[in-house]
Amino acid sequence: MSLMGQSFLSVDNVDNHEVGVLFSRARKLKRANQDKIDFEKVVKKGDRKNLLAALLFFEPSTRTRLSFQTACLRLGIRPFLLDSPSSSSLSKGERIIDTFENISMMDPDLIVLRHGEISSMEDSVNSSPVPVVNAGSGTNSHPTQALLDAFTIQERRGKITDEKILIVGDVAHSRVANSNLKLLKKLGAEVAICSPETMLPQDRVWDGTRKFIDLKEAISWATVCMGLRLQLERHKNDTLGLSLAAYRDKFRIDKKNLKGLVDDGLILHPGPFVSGVDFTAGVLEDPRCAVREQVRNGVYVRAALLTMILGWEV
Ligand code: NCD
Repeated sequence: MSLMGQSFLSVDNVDNHEVGVLFSRARKLKRANQDKIDFEKVVKKGDRKNLLAALLFFEPSTRTRLSFQTACLRLGIRPFLLDSPSSSSLSKGERIIDTFENISMMDPDLIVLRHGEISSMEDSVNSSPVPVVNAGSGTNSHPTQALLDAFTIQERRGKITDEKILIVGDVAHSRVANSNLKLLKKLGAEVAICSPETMLPQDRVWDGTRKFIDLKEAISWATVCMGLRLQLERHKNDTLGLSLAAYRDKFRIDKKNLKGLVDDGLILHPGPFVSGVDFTAGVLEDPRCAVREQVRNGVYVRAALLTMILGWEV
């Protein structure tokens, strides 16, 4: 398997060896930046140096969008951005698929795409003359988030194999959880979930996954506890199956229930969290919490991925 020149749409597009290479590149880039060394000095580019990346965000984003933008700028790739449908021809009735195909005709060197469901534009993506990177697709997949989460686990826990990863909350609507399940299992971790009945995932990839009902019991099983945002915008008919207060009481990650997590455990959340509902801000002060570090790592992991797609050496 090689990422060079290829679109990166799913964690299925990388094998364990490539994940190892990607993590080692991300570590080098992170260190370089901490030592105030320009990426130019660490990255050996090919003949063409002035590349352009189109960042197309048809769904809201803060971290992922700015993380790709930062990664591009550090690598000397110039990003240009479409993230506001109201100021584009989408507001005139153009289909997203046509917007995408028109922008790809401008011959960028890469396209980074966030969309409500990338598989619905499969033909356009597959026939794109330039590599497309999935920056989050509906409830289905978010492969670069899974890579940065795995990188953070490796960095903080020293390994991924045999780690006990607990994913808490709205798993059914979470693209982050889907991509994490696939990648973390592939890397040898054990994954379990703790969610309300109405937010249990239905997809077959989750068959056989351990499911906890009680958060306290689940946390005492885990070495890594990963929260998820309650994705109210994706709930059809507003049916949580329980009140917001009941959700908070049973599934919120907070200082009290984290007392049951092992001392050297790890606390993650892809962000954004809804403070007081799925996560409490006080947890950020917990030395086991790497939620802010995940954001930092995202830049280096995405930069490393782009170097592999572009065939650059690090
Ligand atoms: C998530 C996303 O957009 O998929 N956040 C992220 O990319 N860091 C999670 C969310 O929206 O809840």
